[in-house]
Amino acid sequence: MATNDNNKFQAVIAHAKEYGFVFPSSEIYDGLSAVYDYGPWGSELKKNIRDYWWKSMTQLHENIVGIDAAIFMHPTTWKASGHVDNFSDPMIDNKDSKKRYRVDHLIEAHAETLAKEEGEALLSSMDRLLSGDDFAGLKKLIGDNKIKCSVSGTCNWTDIRQFNLMFKTEFGATVAEKEEDNIVYLRPETAQGIFVNFLNVQKTARMKIPFGIAQTGKAFRNEIVARQFIFRMREFEQMEMQFFVRPGTEGAWYKFWKEERLKWHLSLGIPAEKYRYHDHIKLAHYAKEACDIEFEFPIGFKELEGIHSRGDYDLSQHQLYSKKKLQYYDNDIDPATGKPYGNYVPCVVETSIGLDRMFLSVLSYAYEEETISKEDGGSDSRVVLRLPAKLAPIKLAILPLTKKDGLPEIARTIMNDCQDEFYCFYEEKDAIGKRYRRMDAIGTPFCITVDHQTKEDQTVTIRYRDTMTQERLPVNKVIELVKGKIR
Ligand code: GAP
Repeated sequence: MATNDNNKFQAVIAHAKEYGFVFPSSEIYDGLSAVYDYGPWGSELKKNIRDYWWKSMTQLHENIVGIDAAIFMHPTTWKASGHVDNFSDPMIDNKDSKKRYRVDHLIEAHAETLAKEEGEALLSSMDRLLSGDDFAGLKKLIGDNKIKCSVSGTCNWTDIRQFNLMFKTEFGATVAEKEEDNIVYLRPETAQGIFVNFLNVQKTARMKIPFGIAQTGKAFRNEIVARQFIFRMREFEQMEMQFFVRPGTEGAWYKFWKEERLKWHLSLGIPAEKYRYHDHIKLAHYAKEACDIEFEFPIGFKELEGIHSRGDYDLSQHQLYSKKKLQYYDNDIDPATGKPYGNYVPCVVETSIGLDRMFLSVLSYAYEEETISKEDGGSDSRVVLRLPAKLAPIKLAILPLTKKDGLPEIARTIMNDCQDEFYCFYEEKDAIGKRYRRMDAIGTPFCITVDHQTKEDQTVTIRYRDTMTQERLPVNKVIELVKGKIR
């Protein structure tokens, strides 16, 4: 049983593997660092989270439409966006172990070992030095605090250098005159696919400002990672929405989306105290204002989603580099002049969440090792995933009590009726209690059992995952009940 949060994190990772949620990538070759594969129930849970986000962004907002841009983009995209020059983190190497650390991760890990006030003082010094790009000051801070490498145990550090996080690959079969002409990057964020399509989307979907473009898809970053499971990956998925607004209104829209996104998280029923805002002091190269919505993972409060007011930086940069106008004609009347606002480059408020990180937040919150008191005074235990019913991979398990007396046939008929409506699972092997436990462990919110009484009165037993209570229900009410709960 998990006794503390680090144990809980390890228990969640082990559970995710054992029950088909997440596997290390290419595990038979000992895995690939910070790359993971999603198994049968993991890919279903991930899809449900993605769909939940997509529906809330597009279907439920008349002024937001979706796209699906390619991962490869013209290399100039990344020059224009600033990623070639700025998408880097300060790194430091330990000369003895040759291990490389992100400077902020190294200092944060040390701060966690200190008393609260001391740790906070160290972090605020770090924030100040990072926001001034003061690498000499940061190295001195590491030295003064005698921060050691976890592998060599020494303080023998190199100078701090910037390290670009983008992956490069070669494009096409022909050999270009200059080697760099063949280079393309694996996108480090999905946002740029939205910016370069801004006018295509605005014109074809006939959108009027303010409007948004949403996208989900893979992103790649050559992260320096310290065993954080799917929290920090080298290949991951983002769900991003860029909201295009009239310049001067971006502050109000930033506030709107900051609140709106937290409401979306709370709509899943996870308690509010598991979330908090973190306003940025050091802003990314494109940002005017930025904050994170942090979630309390088993590894502590960490960034789950970013909300950024990006100004007109991205569209202006693409306009500059592509020499194509990326402007919008606004024929609304400006009350100050009595004339239309006219042509301008819109400002952007972005909401950006990692799908894998969202998956980890939902999974780690849902995971519970429960002790159950028995009527005879003894106790039993179970591992249950209390996943929100609308996200659960399997919504309904259909279980005949025995393999005989025509019960499997009745259960199969119910399965046929239900599987068109939501994801169902049929199982007749093992004792019913064992089957319930397996469904608890993968988060199935409802199980129905077909027994001999079903033959007499067309009722089944429905068992609720969270309370383990059971009641009888007419077979023809099952679909309605489950649909009501997952809506
Ligand atoms: N377009 C803005 C952008 O990409 P970001 O803060 O770098 O901003 C947004 O990333 C979100 O993507 C983060 O809040 C996080 O949820 C997720 N994310 C970023 N890097 C990640 C990684 N290496 N592994 C998993 N998720 C990551």
